Amino acid sequence: MPSSVIEVENLVKVYSGGTRAVDGISFHVGAGELLGFLGPNGAGKTTTIRILATLLAATSGAARVAGFDVTTQASDVRRRLGLAMQTPTLDTFATGRENIELIGRMHRVPRAELKRRTDELLELMGLTAVARKLAGTYSGGMRRRLDLACALVHRPQVLILDEPTEGLDPQSRIALWDELERISQDGTTMLLTTHYMEEADRLCNRVAIIDNGRIVVDGSPADLKAGIGADTVTLQLDANGPEDLARQQEDVRGLLRGFGSLESVTPEPFGVRLAIRDAGRAIPELMRRLDGNGRVVHVIGLAVGQPSLDDVFVKYTGRRIRAEAADHPIILGW
Ligand SMILES: Nc1ncnc2c1ncn2[C@@H]1O[C@H](COP(=O)(O)OP(=O)(O)O)[C@@H](O)[C@H]1O
Ligand SMILES: [Mg+2]
Repeated sequence: MPSSVIEVENLVKVYSGGTRAVDGISFHVGAGELLGFLGPNGAGKTTTIRILATLLAATSGAARVAGFDVTTQASDVRRRLGLAMQTPTLDTFATGRENIELIGRMHRVPRAELKRRTDELLELMGLTAVARKLAGTYSGGMRRRLDLACALVHRPQVLILDEPTEGLDPQSRIALWDELERISQDGTTMLLTTHYMEEADRLCNRVAIIDNGRIVVDGSPADLKAGIGADTVTLQLDANGPEDLARQQEDVRGLLRGFGSLESVTPEPFGVRLAIRDAGRAIPELMRRLDGNGRVVHVIGLAVGQPSLDDVFVKYTGRRIRAEAADHPIILGW
């Protein structure tokens, strides 16, 4: 048994159209670890995962899962892998139970064990009551949980999940997080992708922040946030439409130029976000500055907070995940 269950070295994927979706990615995931790939849509997360899952050939580089090479030992990899992709791949005209059993038979789980395992998974995912209903009648959250049950039926050593909570309502998302935590605590090595920083923060031992096909930084969520070294101050601005907002945002930038402990100014739909070292001390002087020089900035709210993984993303890429995620449609269709 290798100490790293997933090993990726200098992986590159150039699609036939010329898109360099993965541009030299290297990382390791240790046994029992839960690594999160956090990045905006189009960053190359799904492409990386499809290569690891043996569904797509890399252009160059190497990847091993559970010690097996994804190119030359694909069936060994598949046997040890549970996979749930961005769009649940369920048979909508089969019941929940039948879906799990179907996947179990594909993985050659012996009949008696499959029955036990299916009962157990239906229970674990809270689907026992709807086990005899067609999957096509399930809600989004139920489909996700059924898909996860299918991915777990053969007790995979490694679980790979692509955007596991995409499109779920907040309540179902939290329920699924609990489930994923439980699976991780059972010792399953996990790799998941997400563009939700709260999800990465909450679930992952380690997060790799990915942008434009490259890992820009990785570490534990706590270390990454501590590395920001500044607090987040959000200023809510009262503006008369987008032009006035843009003007006020520029004025804030101008008024704070040279302000000692200020690290960055980021425009936001509600005003601006500032990264300021030791914000508590800096605020009185900050307010005096914003008051000055005849420029009118209407501050109607101020909040001081700890940095988030989004602030980490901003630090390393100069952009935000949230805005990016909203701008780009999710790429489906394979
Ligand atoms: N089948 C494909 N053919 C060509 N380009 C693709 C294909 N799938 C994804 N891409 C492109 O590769 C880049 C990375 O996409 P993807 O891996 O889906 O990112 P993510 O999962 O982080 O949103 C994007 O620019 C996307 O448009
Ligand atoms: Mg994706």
